Amino acid sequence: QSYTFDVNAGAELQVQTSLEEAPSLEFTNEGGTPYSMPYDYQRIGSDGPLLLQDVHLIENLAHFVRERIPERVVHAKGSGAHGYFIATNAAYCQNYTIMDIFTQQGLKTPMTARFSTVSGEMGAADTLRDPRGFALKFRTSQGILDIVMNNTPVFFIRDPTKFPHFIHTQKRNPQTHLRDHDLFWDYLSANPESLYQVMRLFSDLGTPYGFRHMNGWTGHSYRWIKSDGTWVYVKLYAETMQGIQNFTNAEANDMAGTNPDFATQDLYDAIANGTYPGWTVYAQVLTPEQAESFKYNVLDLTKDWGFDDVTPVKIGEFYLTMNSDNYFAEIEQLAFSPGRTVPGWEPSADPVLQSRLFSYGDAHRYRLGVNYLQIPVNAPTVPVANFERDGKMQVNGNQGNRPNYQSTLSPIKLVPPPYYQDTHQQWMGGAVHSLSEVTTIDFDWPKRFWASLSAQDQANFISNVVGHLGTVISYTVRQRQVALFALVDPALGQAIAQGVNVTVPPLPTFPTGPTWLNYTVFSNEST
Ligand code: HEM
Repeated sequence: QSYTFDVNAGAELQVQTSLEEAPSLEFTNEGGTPYSMPYDYQRIGSDGPLLLQDVHLIENLAHFVRERIPERVVHAKGSGAHGYFIATNAAYCQNYTIMDIFTQQGLKTPMTARFSTVSGEMGAADTLRDPRGFALKFRTSQGILDIVMNNTPVFFIRDPTKFPHFIHTQKRNPQTHLRDHDLFWDYLSANPESLYQVMRLFSDLGTPYGFRHMNGWTGHSYRWIKSDGTWVYVKLYAETMQGIQNFTNAEANDMAGTNPDFATQDLYDAIANGTYPGWTVYAQVLTPEQAESFKYNVLDLTKDWGFDDVTPVKIGEFYLTMNSDNYFAEIEQLAFSPGRTVPGWEPSADPVLQSRLFSYGDAHRYRLGVNYLQIPVNAPTVPVANFERDGKMQVNGNQGNRPNYQSTLSPIKLVPPPYYQDTHQQWMGGAVHSLSEVTTIDFDWPKRFWASLSAQDQANFISNVVGHLGTVISYTVRQRQVALFALVDPALGQAIAQGVNVTVPPLPTFPTGPTWLNYTVFSNEST
C-alpha cells in the first residue's frame, strides 16, 4: 500500500487498497498466491490430526498472536484524522521564523492529528477526568514538523525526573491493580507546583465533550528563529471553532458506562458526515529581553503566559477532513515527537521539554521499531538522505547503492546551516534556577483561574474535588491537599475541608524549604 499526502488537494489521503476494490480481489496466502478458502486446513481423513505442512494454517495462527504491539505508556487511548493547515498571517510570522508552513501566505500543509486521554489503557473510557493529548503532524516541504500539545496551557511538573513518579500515581496500584485515589492525591498534595493543572483538571475542563470541543496548547515555550540567528520565545494555541463544551462529572460518568468510545465516535461521525472540525491557531511571542523581565519564568511549564499578558496573534487554521481507512496503520502507528522539527523551530531550555526531546524517539523505537519513520503515516513527503541504514523492518530500499558514509567519491550534498548563529545558550546563562522550589508565585495562576470561574463552575469544581478526594483513606493526604486549596482562597479551602471531613491546618507561608506540611519534599535543584 502507498499513501499520498497531496498538498494541493488539501490533505487527500489515497490508499491503494480501498474497500471499493475488495470485491475484485482474489483471496491469497501471505505470499500473494491465490488460495481456495480462508477457513481451509489440512487434516488426515475427516477426523485425523492436522498436518505440519499446512503453511496456510500456521501463517494464519502465527500472525494472529503477533497482532498486538505495545500500547503507548501514556496516551494509549485516542483517535485521530487527517486534514490540512492553512497559513493566514505570513507577514507576521516572517518577522520571527523561516518555516515555510507559517511564512507562505495561503500555503496548505497536509497534516494528521491524534487526540487522546493520558493515564488510561487502550480500552479506557474516553470521558475520564484526565488531560487530553492534542498531537499534530505536519508534512512540510522542509520535512516533518510535530507539535505535541495537550488541551491545557500548563502541566503538573517542571522537573522531568518527576514524570514517571507522577504517571505511576495515575496508573494502577502495584498490589491491588486498582486505580488508587490515595496515591493520586498523595503525589499531588506533596508536589504543590501541580496545583494550577490540578484545578483545571477538576473543573469541568477536565471532562471535555469529545475531542472537537477543546483547545490545544504547546505548554512549553519553544523558539522561532530567523536566518540571521535572531529568535523569540513562542507558544502556540489552537482554539476550537466548534466552541468549548464540557461534560459535567455526572454526565461524564454516565457516558463512560453507555458509550466509553464517545470521543472517538464523535470525531469519526462528524468527519464522515462532512462536518469537518476546525481550529484557529494563534502564536504568543516574547523576545528574550521581554522574557527576562517577564513575571513568570518562561521555562517553567507550570506557568501560563496569559492572553492579557501576551496577546495571541492568529497565524492559521486547520481542519480535519478525512478519517483513516485503517486505524492501526494510520493512527495507532503514528509517532509524534517534540524533537521532530524543521528549520525555524527550536526547543527552549525548559527542562521538561529537553527531556521530552529524548523520550519520544526512545518510545517509538521500542513501540514501533527502529525504522518507525518508514511507516507511511510517519514518513516525510520529501526525500531522506543520510547514513542510517539496516535494522528490522527496513522496507523502503535502504537508500539504495549510495555509500553508507560521507564518501569523498560521491558525497551527499550538504546544505548550509539555516542560521548564521543561535545565541540561545549564551543568553540562557543564569536563567534556569530554583525551578524545583515552590514559592508564593506558584499560587498566582491557581488564584487567577479560581477567580475566572463562574459561580456554577466554582460549585462544580468543589463537588468534583469532594467526590474524588473524599474517597481518600489517608487523613494526612486529604488535609495536605485542602491546605493547598486554602492557600488559593480560604473559602475554597473551607468548603473542600468540610466536604472531605478534615479541618483546615495552619497554613505555612512559602517558601517552606524542604518540608511541606510534615511531608519531606526532596528538592532536586542542582547546586
Ligand atoms: C505521549 C513522555 C510530557 C503530550 C507520550 C509518550 C511518552 C511521553 C513516552 C508515548 C509516546 C509514544 O509511544 O508514541 C513524556 C515525558 C514528559 C511528557 C517524559 C515529561 C517529562 C508531556 C507534555 C505534553 C505531552 C508536557 C504536552 C504539552 C503528549 C501527547 C502524547 C504523549 C499529546 C500522545 C502523542 C500521540 O498521540 O501519539 N509522552 N511526556 N507530554 N505526550 Fe508526553
